[in-house]
Amino acid sequence: MTDDSKRPPGRHRRPLLAAAAVLLATGAAIAVPHLADAATTLQSLAAAKGKTVGFALTSSYLSEAAYKNIADTEFNLVVAENAMKWSETEPSRNSFTYTAGDAVANYAASSGKQLYGHALVWHQQYPGWVDGISSGTDLLAAMKNHIANVAGHYAGKVVAWDVVNEAFEDNGSRRQSIFQQRIGNSYIEEAFKAARAADPAAKLCINDYSTDGINAKSTAILNLVQDFKARGVPIDCVGFQAHLILGQVPSDLQANLQRFANLGVDVRITELDVRMTTPSDASKLATQKSDFQKVFTACANVTRCTGVTVWGITDRYSWVPEVFSGYGAALIWDDNYNRKPAYDGAAAGFGGTTTTPTPTTPTPTTPGPTTPGPTTPGPTTPAPGGGCAVGYTVNQWNTGFTATVNVKNTSGTAINGWTLAWSYSAGQTVTQSWSATVTQSGSAVTAANAAWNAALPAGGSTSFGFNGSHSGSNPAPAAFSLNGTACTVA
Ligand code: G3I
Repeated sequence: MTDDSKRPPGRHRRPLLAAAAVLLATGAAIAVPHLADAATTLQSLAAAKGKTVGFALTSSYLSEAAYKNIADTEFNLVVAENAMKWSETEPSRNSFTYTAGDAVANYAASSGKQLYGHALVWHQQYPGWVDGISSGTDLLAAMKNHIANVAGHYAGKVVAWDVVNEAFEDNGSRRQSIFQQRIGNSYIEEAFKAARAADPAAKLCINDYSTDGINAKSTAILNLVQDFKARGVPIDCVGFQAHLILGQVPSDLQANLQRFANLGVDVRITELDVRMTTPSDASKLATQKSDFQKVFTACANVTRCTGVTVWGITDRYSWVPEVFSGYGAALIWDDNYNRKPAYDGAAAGFGGTTTTPTPTTPTPTTPGPTTPGPTTPGPTTPAPGGGCAVGYTVNQWNTGFTATVNVKNTSGTAINGWTLAWSYSAGQTVTQSWSATVTQSGSAVTAANAAWNAALPAGGSTSFGFNGSHSGSNPAPAAFSLNGTACTVA
């Protein structure tokens, strides 16, 4: 479980904190900002890995010394929490206002951080006038005009844009947003084409929540990326929001990121927070530390993961308590800007050593896909009983299905060229595949590597997928073999 789509309107700032903000701004004591050692800032650890660590900024908070100190010190990327959304940038049709967005862009420039754009097309936080557009042709024109202007305004400043945000339902179907209903399926590719035209240098991303693990929704986005790549529609990256619940980091997060990376797109954790029931306690904070470590580790282990962005700095200002009653404490710094154990988890995930005393014994990392270590050829430890491991997930409807297969070389020896074999017991028929050549003879199916994923280093993995049909029953294969060796099935 990660997020849901309920985002009731209303204030998300807690009023009693306003007074505290004044005290902080005037230098009175509430918070003692923890000054990280230069060697152990999150941004220095990220930079050492060629990645970025970002935060969602609301510029007004920079007037608080504690907030600004952390923002300045710890991060090398910034994204506007709200200021670049449609409602903020085009409140009246074709009348653009960039004051709030420019404040974020100017902070990024003056502090030497990368700027990430969020979000051009989203079913929330768009202005009321959009609802008044009844024709698809007119809405498409309005959407293209919005993208041309906003992405044009920030061209040369942003490294990437969330072009379309939250376009899918959890079951993998298209969300019935106003854009989907009025324009139809093509609205996503029209948005990406308009963004490319407005800013040819920006990486163009699709972004969503509850897509952190391998599931129907993430598979739908995988299929979209595959389709866009096949048809030459511009798409460069996929964002995984990772609004997570304590203790529920998907165990296949890294495998999920990797299967997208295998398609030739960048991936990024874009809005990380880990909410817990409040009040927090030492045990919950220790679990949260472990959760942050798992997420940062997964990104560290995927070469094409550009980094992790956290959705805010301090629990003082977080969207979580306003939307999820009884939950909060989701970020790295607490209400009073004290560093939480989550900081050490994040740092450890990016290869740092921990320096903050923690209230509990560090939680050992769970072996599996999120175990730190290179995914490219390098020193490896053969898995016990080595061979291969296969993950097989399916998104199905009455007579059809889409399957995603993850293949991992768990032996200590590199593989160069592979064929995965299995058998279907209920007459399923493969119709179309990607990232592997799938052939079928009766119930016997084989998938042979594509040219670009032939090499599977020891410990390495890859993914491929296919569509198929069935006649009402679609059991998963009971066994797989890789180059003739039986695999474990995850
Ligand atoms: O700006 C108005 C202000 O003028 C008005 O007085 C006040 C009255 O309630 O509302 C203010 O707008 C608020 C806005 O944030 C700016 O502060 C909205 O009520 C509030 O709903 C809005 O919340 C934002 C939310 O997106 C909107 O759905 C959160 O700050 C922001 O963190 C959140 O971010 C989203 C990402 O963009 C996409 N992924 C999910 C994530 C969390 O919901």
